[in-house]
Amino acid sequence: MIAASIARQRVATAVAPQGLRRRPAAAAAAVSRPAPRLPRRRRGGVAARVAQPLERAGSPPPDEEECPLFIDRDGEFVEVMCCDYGFRTGGQSFSRHSGPTIPPSLIKLAFNTFAQEYTNVRRSFRYGEGGSEYAAIAAANPPRGPVGRALYAAGGAVVALFARIDIFLEERKIFSPLLPAGIPKESFDLRVGGLSKQCREVRARLKQLKLDNGAVWAREHAREAAGLGVETPWLVKGVYLALCVFLDKAYDNRPIQRFWFLETVARMPYFVYISCLHLAESMGWWRAGADLRIVHAAEEWNELHHLQVMESLGGDVLWWDRFLGTHAAFIYYWVLVGLFVASPSLAYNFSELIEAHAVDTYGEFVDANEELLKSLPPPLVAAEYYCGQDLYRMFDAFQTSDTPRRPKVKNMYDVFANIRDDEKEHVKTMQACQDFTVAGDLAAKEERALDEALRAQMRTTAPRQPPGGGGGGGEGGDGDGEGEGGDVRTR
Ligand SMILES: [Fe+2]
Ligand SMILES: [Fe+2]
Repeated sequence: MIAASIARQRVATAVAPQGLRRRPAAAAAAVSRPAPRLPRRRRGGVAARVAQPLERAGSPPPDEEECPLFIDRDGEFVEVMCCDYGFRTGGQSFSRHSGPTIPPSLIKLAFNTFAQEYTNVRRSFRYGEGGSEYAAIAAANPPRGPVGRALYAAGGAVVALFARIDIFLEERKIFSPLLPAGIPKESFDLRVGGLSKQCREVRARLKQLKLDNGAVWAREHAREAAGLGVETPWLVKGVYLALCVFLDKAYDNRPIQRFWFLETVARMPYFVYISCLHLAESMGWWRAGADLRIVHAAEEWNELHHLQVMESLGGDVLWWDRFLGTHAAFIYYWVLVGLFVASPSLAYNFSELIEAHAVDTYGEFVDANEELLKSLPPPLVAAEYYCGQDLYRMFDAFQTSDTPRRPKVKNMYDVFANIRDDEKEHVKTMQACQDFTVAGDLAAKEERALDEALRAQMRTTAPRQPPGGGGGGGEGGDGDGEGEGGDVRTR
C-alpha cells in the first residue's frame, strides 16, 4: 500500500498542531510507527493554522524527499500524496498558502501564457511517451475500426511533420533550443536523477484507474428507468448526448483527463449564472435572485477544487488536453450566456443533465476502482478543502441536506466519493433553481442558521454548572453542536 509506505517514511513523533508540514523522508525511514492522534480540539482551531505554510529554518539537504503532512479540523493526521504533478505554478496555480494575489495585467498574462504554451505545443510534437504527446494519447486510447485508424494515421503524420519543421527551424537557430518539460522539484529525486520512487509508484497506480463508458451509460439508463431521469426538451437532450459521446470517444481509457475536462467546463455554468444575475442587477432589471449568487459562487468554488484534484493527478499535463478543455470552456460559457439570457430555467435544466451525468460517471469510477483508490493517499488540495477550515462557509452554502456534510478524506477513494456526493448536491440545486423551490430552501437554511446561533448564544449565557454537574464543556461533549460561535466544546 502506497499510503502505508509513505506513512512508514515519516517521522511519527508528536508535532505541534501546525497544519501542513513537510517531513524529510530519508530521516523518517528509520521510524515506522503510526502517527499519533493529537488531542481533540475545538473544531476550526487546528484548521486555522493548517492554512499556513510551514516555515522552515533552511532548505533540506538535496537528497531528502519531502512529503506534506496535514492535520485536519479534528486534529487528526491526513496522509497526503507526496507527488502532485504540479504542472501549474506561479499565478496559474491556486494555493491558500500563498494567499490571494492580484494579477499585474490581463494582457500581460495572456501574452505570458501564450509564450508558455507555445513552448509546450512544440514539446507536445517532440516529446512524450512514444515520441510525442499524440503518441501517448493514441497508445492509451487506440483507434477502433478503419475510419478511426485512418484518422489516427493522419493525425500522427501531421504531428510528425510539425516535429520535423520544429527541429529544422531549431537547427537553423530560428527557434530556440527545446528541452523536455522538467520534473517539479517536489517530485525530483537527485539520487536517481528523476522522479522519486514514491512518485513512480503513485503514477503507475493512477494509470491503472479505469472507467467503462458502457457501465456509465448503464447507470444513466437505470436511473432513468427508476424515474430519476432529467426531463428536458429534445434539442437540449441532443446537445447533451453529443457531448457525452464526444467525452467517450476523446477520453476513452483516460479517466483523469476526462474528469479534468469535465471539471474545467463544469465551472462555466456557475460563472455564467453569476455574470447574468450581476448584469440583471446592474441594469436594475432584477434583484430578487441576489441570494442565488452566493449558492452559485459556492458551487463554482467546489468545482474549482474538483478541478485542482484532477490537476494534482496529472489531468492537465498534456498540451492537447489543456487546449481542448480551455477552448471548450470558453465556447460553453458564451453558449450558456445566450441560453440563460433567453431562458434561465433551460440553462439550469442543461446543467442538471450535466451534473447528473457527473454523478453517474464518478459513481461508476468510485465503484470500479475502490480497492486501487483506497491504496492511494489523497492530494493535499482535497484534504484542505474537505477537512480544513471552511473560511467563508462555502462548502455549506450549496448543501441541501438539513444536517451539515462533514466528509472525511483518508485516501483517494474518499476524495472521489466526496466529489460524487458534491455532484449530487449540484443536481439538487439545479432542480431547485428550475422549480423555484430554491428560494424556500434558502429561507429554511437561513432559519436553521438563526436557530443554531440562538442556541449557541443561550449556551454561552447559561449559568455555569457546578463541578461534576455533567455540563458539555470538556472532551466528549454531546456532539450535537459544532463548537462554533465561541463555544469551547469539542466535537
Ligand atoms: Fe465537479
Ligand atoms: Fe458539478
